[in-house]
Amino acid sequence: MSDVTERWRSERVIAAMYDAGVKHDRVATVGAWAMWGADMRRMFADVARLADTPAGASVLDIPCGGGFAFRGLRRGQAVQYVAADISPYMLGQARREAARRGVQDAIEFVEADVTALQFADNSFDLCVTYNGLHCLPDPRAALGELTRVLRPGGMLVFVDSLQTGDEPDYDAMLEYFPVAFHEPYYASYLEEDLDRLWSPGFSPEARLPAYFSKVLSYRRNP
Ligand SMILES: C[S@@+](CC[C@H](N)C(=O)[O-])C[C@H]1O[C@@H](n2cnc3c(N)ncnc32)[C@H](O)[C@@H]1O
Repeated sequence: MSDVTERWRSERVIAAMYDAGVKHDRVATVGAWAMWGADMRRMFADVARLADTPAGASVLDIPCGGGFAFRGLRRGQAVQYVAADISPYMLGQARREAARRGVQDAIEFVEADVTALQFADNSFDLCVTYNGLHCLPDPRAALGELTRVLRPGGMLVFVDSLQTGDEPDYDAMLEYFPVAFHEPYYASYLEEDLDRLWSPGFSPEARLPAYFSKVLSYRRNP
């Protein structure tokens, strides 16, 4: 396990700070709008589409962190939802967030490494992977595992930072982020050709820029 992955697994203070930051939508929305004229509500609206997932569908949310994606779940929604993360601390936060939103009964919480998943082949209809790829020493290993566990025809919804050239006005800030926050794999993530990375397993379906992030959807090829 790389040092960074081990740090995510065992560290608590940065995890707590990150989790508090992403959960305060109003602060993030107003701050992003005031500083950059960016509209985060579009991303939250996209995450909320999870509520449209049909009854009986199986969903994998990895890395779930403190439950960022749960805002998209409805109370009583009849999905089989697995929330997975490498960090026991984050899983604890996710449990609390699920209880706060009243969606805990639909969710199984699992400690898992996205680069070595314990799930069977073709076991999920939908996989959401938010803000995790840039943390990984080996994003291709994660990709291989997500491809394996998603059934053919299933959807993968990916959210992560913008990349170099997506919004040239933000490029300098993107370059500063790994310096300020010690994110050793972020620089290579910025240059990654994501559509190429996800192919040949997936075909791109939709893309939506949102603040410093983007939402990309891919369909697993038959
Ligand atoms: C930036 S946070 C994103 C969390 C959440 N998806 C969100 O959008 O708020 C990154 C998460 O990745 C998790 N993580 C890091 N490496 C991982 C790995 N190899 N497998 C599973 N989770 C991992 C961390 O514990 C952390 O919760």
